[in-house]
Amino acid sequence: MAATRDPTTLSNYGAWRTKHTSASFNIDFDNKRLVGSVVLQLESQTDKQSTEIVLDSRFVKVSSVAVDGAAAQWELKPHSDPFGAPLHIQVPHGAAKGDVVRVAIELETTSKCTALQWLTPAQTSNKKHPYMFSQCQAINARSIFPCQDTPDVKSTISFKFTSTLPVVASGVAVGDHTATPGVEKVYEFEQKVPIPSYLFAVASGDIVAAPIGSRSKVVTGPNELKGCQWELERDMEKFLEIAESIVFPYRWGEYNVLVLPPSFPYGGMENPIYTFATPTIISGDRQNVDVIAHELAHSWSGNLVSNASWEHFWLNEGWTVYLERRIEAAVHGEPQFDFSSIIGWKALEDAVAHFGKDHEYTKLIISHDNVDPEDVYSTVAYEKGFHFLYYLDRLVGRDNFNKFIPHYFTKWAGKSLDSFEFRDTFVDFFNNLGDEEVKQKVATIDWEGRFYTPGLPPKPEFDTTLASQCYELAEKWKDASYEPSPKDVEGFSSNQKIVFLEKLQQFEPLSTDRAQLLGKVYDLLNTQNVELKFAYLQLALKANDASSYQTTADLLGKVGRMKFVRPLFRSLNKVDRNLALETFAKNKDFYHPICRGMVEKDLGV
Ligand code: BES
Ligand code: ZN
Repeated sequence: MAATRDPTTLSNYGAWRTKHTSASFNIDFDNKRLVGSVVLQLESQTDKQSTEIVLDSRFVKVSSVAVDGAAAQWELKPHSDPFGAPLHIQVPHGAAKGDVVRVAIELETTSKCTALQWLTPAQTSNKKHPYMFSQCQAINARSIFPCQDTPDVKSTISFKFTSTLPVVASGVAVGDHTATPGVEKVYEFEQKVPIPSYLFAVASGDIVAAPIGSRSKVVTGPNELKGCQWELERDMEKFLEIAESIVFPYRWGEYNVLVLPPSFPYGGMENPIYTFATPTIISGDRQNVDVIAHELAHSWSGNLVSNASWEHFWLNEGWTVYLERRIEAAVHGEPQFDFSSIIGWKALEDAVAHFGKDHEYTKLIISHDNVDPEDVYSTVAYEKGFHFLYYLDRLVGRDNFNKFIPHYFTKWAGKSLDSFEFRDTFVDFFNNLGDEEVKQKVATIDWEGRFYTPGLPPKPEFDTTLASQCYELAEKWKDASYEPSPKDVEGFSSNQKIVFLEKLQQFEPLSTDRAQLLGKVYDLLNTQNVELKFAYLQLALKANDASSYQTTADLLGKVGRMKFVRPLFRSLNKVDRNLALETFAKNKDFYHPICRGMVEKDLGV
């Protein structure tokens, strides 16, 4: 069997590759499970007959397996963390290279499923209907159905769901989707572009749609619809057009956004056709729509061109951050590129400090032998990946790099690659460009060092046009007798306030009184902008401001986005462990299973 390069799958995808997946499920809200079947069309990869198929699975209940219409011999091996229980299926007569077998699996999900969150009507905003949604990245698809759960395999997908509520999925809707909440109906979707398992997505609930651009709509709860539409409609089509001008035309048809209930554990998730997004981006000031620019950019980096394994995750996220910043610069002007990079650099410093500067997880290529990608996940892939690309961009010059972008995405569209293939593609392109000077420069790149050196990469000079005012204000606060006034931040965007607060955090902790004064004078607690509130609470907690503990606990009952929840729990735990544990116990069911699991690890419960 051909060796595989993804250490986080137990499947034998060197011997077989999924070409098409048909998923057919009833969304059973009463029992909080999906019940149905999946049919995988697997193509044999080896000349020597392949007589066994091994699929990933994790806490799914399999009731039968058929191969080409006949009952098959199968065995679910024991579960072990972190990769789950491999499903072994016999193909008695084997299959010659190129032959396709149809594996039909009847199954249901279980209460231990890590990919799905089921909300009761009481947990939704209008409290009328239940809600469910999936989050498969990185390795949770295997907990919905047995599959080759690796980004190194891509398959087209047909989806068929029965639900009493409207459904969205990571495919294009086919047939009639008009819905009457409460009335059961079949919803079908097709994904004709081959995608990896981690982009399988489904959500169902009391949701409605409104247009936000010529090829885009937003879908969310009826009470939230107007606000979401306002937040996104100004920029959506602009983002698409700019991204297309940097890479090449959008290949997926529609680009829609599903704004989820607050327990959604990420800022956004680039599920094809429907990006899933946290409601915290709906801040009423259009200041967090960069998350949508980011998820949209994944339509090229990640969804068309995918990392071959989570060891090379920077290829997904570093490229996406790079494209996101190019989009932002085109919309808001060049200084925005550096301003956003400054915010990212601070996050990178924090991540490196959190893991330790020599830690494996601070490398660009991260070994995943027996490692759960969830534990590795941090801003390192994003920012170190971005800085590597930005370094390459400056090295060869923007005009040359602009030529490389469409070349790279064209060459790898529909495929998956690792860092070494990226290196070869880059070097080949510039060796063949016919520019001797650039060729010489490219020859100086220390690929090994860039890929495997832990800690911070070299820091470039940032343009501080938008950040300098924030720094200057922070400097003033160094003097404990500085008397602030609301005027100090009058012209600041929310993100400038955040940069100011983050700079302040790098100095000695504020006294409790000063922290309170800061919050009051700059009105940082009444904001709808959770990013801003979060930045302030981090400061207040470090200042041991006891009045901020309950505010933090309250926020932890309202948002489930891990970017906020995990650091807030860690900080609260340091100053008031009892309140942290009590707050976690109270909100455990509110959090998505992924988030719940991570906070349990963070708090040691
Ligand atoms: N693909 C990620 C989210 C993700 C990564 C989920 C790994 C599970 C495992 C998504 O594109 C993302 O990066 N979201 C960010 C927002 C972004 C603006 C940096 C987030 O969730 O904060
Ligand atoms: Zn991303």
